[in-house]
Amino acid sequence: MSKILVTGGAGYIGTHTCVELLNRGEEIVVLDNFSNSTPEALENVKKITGKEVKLYEGNMIDREVLEKIFTENKIDAVIDFAAYKAVGESVQKPVEYYTNNVSTVLVLLDEMKKHNVKTLVFSSSATVYGDPEVVPITEECKVGGTTNPYGTSKLMVEQILQDLYKSDNEWNIAILRYFNPVGAHESGLIGEEPKGIPANLMPFISKVATGKLAELSVFGNDYDTKDGTGVRDYIHVVDLAIGHIKALEKLEKDGKGMHIYNLGTGTGYSVLDMINAFEKANNIKVPYKIVARRPGDIATCYSDPTKAKVELGFEATKTLEDMCRDAWNFENK
Ligand code: WQD
Repeated sequence: MSKILVTGGAGYIGTHTCVELLNRGEEIVVLDNFSNSTPEALENVKKITGKEVKLYEGNMIDREVLEKIFTENKIDAVIDFAAYKAVGESVQKPVEYYTNNVSTVLVLLDEMKKHNVKTLVFSSSATVYGDPEVVPITEECKVGGTTNPYGTSKLMVEQILQDLYKSDNEWNIAILRYFNPVGAHESGLIGEEPKGIPANLMPFISKVATGKLAELSVFGNDYDTKDGTGVRDYIHVVDLAIGHIKALEKLEKDGKGMHIYNLGTGTGYSVLDMINAFEKANNIKVPYKIVARRPGDIATCYSDPTKAKVELGFEATKTLEDMCRDAWNFENK
């Protein structure tokens, strides 16, 4: 049994990955500053798994807390989720985003090196592809042309990790580029709980369905897509979490290397597809209106998930109905 440090482990993807790690008998240590999560989320991870989670509250930028963790625990690998991830907010607060999403990783890598821990799974994003030249997107597609500090911060860290590996190929790194994570654990105990008005589509639809928000604004229906609305690759968060387990297994098997994987389903759905799927899965109406495009949005983005399937044996299995049902179940709990 290995001991995994999960930074940002109380967050949306973090909690779901902690559940999968614990279910597989891993021992985990969580570092979180609860800037976008709650201690209750970790209590729910314990409820779901019946397993303990060792928690350190703090921010990776404070080197001392990392020093404490690596001194008090024999850490075998790190999964780094800790980052801000709101695209719109990042445009308003670039310095906060680069500090929190880039500087903290530099401190983490330095501490890992000091304690000779060189296995890292890094949470990246399909946003690094900018406005993709071709779809479906493979890992060989050009990255760059990011349109917001959030995406640029992820691109910067990917570059840092590749430079680090070039300097010392004893490092053992998997960069995971998420497409659009949605849904929640079937228990309804953990899920996506954005603070304030949700920026992302699925949490917004869920809030409209409960009546907490009046109607969904569909950001444009004049894109070059089948129904004019934006097309994205939505992946169930539990599938995404399992993708992390598969990546860790590969790193543990290989011992060293640098790998980049798309984590998506390979299928694109439009905004109207999502509304219809949510209404059908949950037998509920989602009132919406078409409004102007959101600045920075792209028309179409979905993955070619072949590489993760071939090299990790990873394939998303949950359906759009699962995603809509589980999101609604969480909202209602
Ligand atoms: C999806 C589609 C919108 C809200 C971002 C980040 C990405 C990841 C996921 C962190 C688009 C439309 C949305 C609404 C709408 N985040 N939409 N009305 O922008 O694809 O990706 O979130 O990892 O890195 O870039 O996700 O959910 O905001 O939008 O019409 O109220 O829904 O235009 O077509 P996005 P999203």
